[in-house]
Amino acid sequence: MHFPVLRAEAVEYLAVRPDGVYLDATAGLGGHTLEIASRLTTGFVIANDRDAESLEFARANTMEFAARIRFHHGKFSDLGEAVREQGFEKVNGLLADLGVSRYQLTEPHRGFSILTDGPLDMRMDQTQRMTAADLVNTAAEKAIADWIHQLGEERRARKIARAIVRARPIRSTLHLAGVVERAVPRTGRLHPATRTFMALRMVVNDEPGELDRLLNVAPQLTAAGGRIVIVSFTSFEDRKVKEQFRNLGREGRAEVLTRRPLTPSEKEVHANPPSRSAKLRAVEMK
Ligand SMILES: C[S@@+](CC[C@H](N)C(=O)[O-])C[C@H]1O[C@@H](n2cnc3c(N)ncnc32)[C@H](O)[C@@H]1O
Repeated sequence: MHFPVLRAEAVEYLAVRPDGVYLDATAGLGGHTLEIASRLTTGFVIANDRDAESLEFARANTMEFAARIRFHHGKFSDLGEAVREQGFEKVNGLLADLGVSRYQLTEPHRGFSILTDGPLDMRMDQTQRMTAADLVNTAAEKAIADWIHQLGEERRARKIARAIVRARPIRSTLHLAGVVERAVPRTGRLHPATRTFMALRMVVNDEPGELDRLLNVAPQLTAAGGRIVIVSFTSFEDRKVKEQFRNLGREGRAEVLTRRPLTPSEKEVHANPPSRSAKLRAVEMK
C-alpha cells in the first residue's frame, strides 16, 4: 500500500491540460503519475525516478494508462535529457515529491529502515557505488556529527557521531539503530535514530545537491504558463524551495501561487502519519 502525499492537491496545482506534456520528476510507485495520466487525452507524462526498482512498480501500478506515460531512469540532473528524449525542449508542468517512498523506507533490503534488519545501503539508485555502510564506517567523526546536526536537525549529533565511530565496524541497519539508541535516550515519540538515518540517507543520495540541481533546471524546462509544484518533507528543503520560488517571482520569471505552503489535512495525516511534515509550494512560469 502506498499513499502519495497531497495527491489531489499536487495535481490540482499542476492544472493539467489534457493535451499537455508533464514531467513527474519523482515517480516513485506511480501514485502522482497515475493521477496526472488520468487527466490526459492526447498529452503524456514522463515518469522519472533514479530508482529503477521503484519504476518497475510504477509501471505495474499505472498499467491502465500506459499509452500516456513514458518512463525515464535518472536523477534531477538528467531531467533535461528525459524531456529531450521525447522530442521536446519544455514541458507544461513539473512535479517533484521529494525524499524517499514508503516502499524504499520499509523494504528491509534497501537499508533505509530502523525497524527491520538489512544491509546499511540507503542508495535510491542501486547503480551508485557509495552506500551508507561506507559513510558510517569510514567518514571522520566531525563530518558525521555535522551531517546529523545540519541535515537531521538533531541536537545530540556529537554524542551520536562519537558512539558510531567507537562501534565500528557497523554491519546492519539494526546494529546502527541500536548504537544510536544506546548513545542517546528516547525523548519523544520518535525513535532516537530517526534523524540520524534521515541525515545519512540525505548524504548517501546527495539530496541537498540534487535539490539545488532540480531548482536550477525546473524553470528552464517549464514552458510559459506551466507550473512547477514541489512537495518537501524537511524544513531544510522547504527553505530552499521557498527561496528559489521567491527569487523567480522577484526576477519576474514566475508568479508564486502559494504565499504559505500547503500542508496535508488532519484526515490525511491520520491515515498516513509520515505525511505530517509535507509542504507543497507552486509557481507558474511567465
Ligand atoms: C516521496 S517518493 C515519490 C512518491 C510518488 N510521488 C508516488 O506517488 O508514488 C520520492 C521518490 O523520488 C525519488 N527521488 C528522490 N530524489 C531523486 C532525484 N534526485 N532524482 C530522481 N529521483 C529522485 C526517490 O527514488 C523516490 O522514489
